Amino acid sequence: MPKCRVCDSTLHEFLDFGRQPLSDAFVRPHETDDEFFFRLAVGVCGSCTMVQLVEEVPRDRMFHQDYPYHSSGSSVMRKHFQQTAQRFLETELTGPDPFVVEIGCNDGVMLRTVADAGVRHLGVEPSGGVAEVARGNGIRVRTDFFEESTARDIAGTDGPANVIYAANTICHIPYLDSIMRGVDALLAPGGVFVFEDPYFGDIVEKTSFDQIYDEHFYLFTARSVGAMAERFGFALVDVERLPVHGGEVRYTLARAGERTPNPAVAELVAEEVARDLASPATCARLAERITHIRDDLTALLERLRAEGKRVVAYGATAKSATVANFCGLGPDLVSHVCDTTPAKQGRLTPGTHIPVLPAEAFADPYPDYALLFAWNHAEEIMAKEQKFRQAGGKWILYVPEVHLV
Ligand code: SAH
Ligand code: TYD
Ligand code: ZN
Repeated sequence: MPKCRVCDSTLHEFLDFGRQPLSDAFVRPHETDDEFFFRLAVGVCGSCTMVQLVEEVPRDRMFHQDYPYHSSGSSVMRKHFQQTAQRFLETELTGPDPFVVEIGCNDGVMLRTVADAGVRHLGVEPSGGVAEVARGNGIRVRTDFFEESTARDIAGTDGPANVIYAANTICHIPYLDSIMRGVDALLAPGGVFVFEDPYFGDIVEKTSFDQIYDEHFYLFTARSVGAMAERFGFALVDVERLPVHGGEVRYTLARAGERTPNPAVAELVAEEVARDLASPATCARLAERITHIRDDLTALLERLRAEGKRVVAYGATAKSATVANFCGLGPDLVSHVCDTTPAKQGRLTPGTHIPVLPAEAFADPYPDYALLFAWNHAEEIMAKEQKFRQAGGKWILYVPEVHLV
């Protein structure tokens, strides 16, 4: 019986995507023979309600010098992080000589605003390539995994942090015990630990099953994060739903007793309980809907191939690894994927080996259909690719169900 990574109780598996590659491991054409695969399966803890992967991938296989994801690739996300930084500067970082630490700062998309304001900061980022980009942007970065020992070391050299922040990173980290002990060692009295990640409530609502992949080890809810915080002497004192990346929640943790929780916390927990969000029945229904999407999407793409239509994909997202591998989408159904990230171009998608081409290839010439793998950026992408539809092209979306736009 698998065990919960947070509380050691029994984990109830409800979904098995089978053998899957690493979602960000875009392969060079001559290296397709030594891809790493693992069993992508999801379970829910019967005790603390944490939804999590059943199998863990060693962290150095995912986060290394060549990690290809660059956070600054979306203008919507650049603005989101600029506003996030601005809000910290106006609220939590107003005392004398404030200090902020970001876990998983990537290319520095958030810390750039902090650095520009002349505020003391440190990014902790294990992926060397993106860390170098952040340094090039004038940001102080330590190329390391954040964990208890790193946190103690930073506390010793830089002193306590008023804010510890992480976006789309804490859900990537199975070893939450070490993270929380590290936060406790580094956080100043009265400080906050703020993190934002894809929300399981949105995943269930939208059937956005492609949020499930190797790097998304946890699929958080307010209830499971609150229970986790309590185990480590912290309390969940605020939650804020965010529209980015298909629906996220920003959680604010403070040491127990230090802050009065915002009523929004109890409200969201009550909503989750009313929705029966982490129950085996809800999880089983989610699994059923995912199977339907797979069948519909495969049927559509096979029909389009039979009709001789040209189908390409847009956005070589990490998320798309789950869709492509679970639905068996190879170059026979989707000729290539267009993506703006230089580190992904010229490579093949993990497991399914669809060639990744630069974004410019999209219009050269426009395909009949475009499978929008980066559906979380739909507004931004459809706005800049208006000519595609004017030329008669159609977008294929598969969230919350398969449909054409
Ligand atoms: N915060 C950025 C990046 C998210 S991608 C954004 O929201 O766009 C997740 C990042 O977390 C990667 O850059 C990865 O290298 C980093 N990461 C993974 N494990 C980590 C750890 N233990 N400590 C710090 N960063 C970590
Ligand atoms: P994203 O959905 O942010 O994350 P993940 O990889 O975690 O699923 O990835 C967006 C991808 O889409 C990224 O590779 C960049 C690409 N992209 C474009 O090619 N054009 C665009 O206009 C945008 C916004 C993203
Ligand atoms: Zn548990």
